[in-house]
Amino acid sequence: MADVIVIAGKGGTGKTTLAALLTLELAKKDAGAVLAVDADPNSNLSDALGLQNAVTIADIVDEISKHPDTVPPHMGKEAFIEYRIHREMTESEGFDLLVMGRPEGPGCYCYINNVLRNCMAKLIADYRYVVIDNEAGLEHFSRKTTRVCSELIVVSDGTQVGVRSAGRIFELVEEMDIAAERRFLVMNKSAGVDQAAALKREFRLQGVFAFPLDVTVADFSAKGVPLSQLPQDSGARQGITKVGEQIWPKN
Ligand SMILES: Nc1ncnc2c1ncn2[C@@H]1O[C@H](COP(=O)(O)OP(=O)(O)O)[C@@H](O)[C@H]1O
Ligand SMILES: [Mg+2]
Repeated sequence: MADVIVIAGKGGTGKTTLAALLTLELAKKDAGAVLAVDADPNSNLSDALGLQNAVTIADIVDEISKHPDTVPPHMGKEAFIEYRIHREMTESEGFDLLVMGRPEGPGCYCYINNVLRNCMAKLIADYRYVVIDNEAGLEHFSRKTTRVCSELIVVSDGTQVGVRSAGRIFELVEEMDIAAERRFLVMNKSAGVDQAAALKREFRLQGVFAFPLDVTVADFSAKGVPLSQLPQDSGARQGITKVGEQIWPKN
């Protein structure tokens, strides 16, 4: 059963950046199979990881809805969707990638969300680590897409709003009774950890880490260069190695 790492936080705080870097770090460590999950319908985790044209769950669901005759009669629609996702999921060096994608019509979100939840429930058995890049909203928590969570990493910037949003996520996780076994807060872009002391106490966080601002990360993002091309000695790569060592001190 995989270690399921959920990365959450307000939009723009750095969830996708950290999810991509953590995926690459875990893949590099070669400590077991890694699955990265882009659970944000406005997804860009695949770009950050340098994987273009990743097939999404939404693509597969839309295509099957348009061509229902392709569903084998003995299989049923749900099973066929899951079979195709399994078959067409992007595989890369050291990790696989599952992308939720953006559903076409209104009301489709729920359906795609259910497919994602069912797929993840099955895939968890096949991997050592599952890294989930959550959306900025709290939908996945309130819809319980995220039922299993070994490590919850909430990302915040140094702003009051960022820290307050992080607090709301920890609060919701408690309210929804989500079994987030270990909870961490990452203060991104060189934000200080002192302002999070109250959150650490209130929500019994295992750790609050400072993650460095790295101008190369911002530059890559502006130019559309994937984070997989970041040099190993860059601030962000060193930062994620440190975060990994603090979360899994014995590995
Ligand atoms: N540590 C960092 N140093 C420099 N730029 C960063 C850092 N973390 C994130 N960014 C930049 O901030 C922007 C938002 O980050 P992103 O990971 O897309 O946030 P989110 O997924 O939470 O919306 C991107 O342009 C990204 O390159
Ligand atoms: Mg993102």
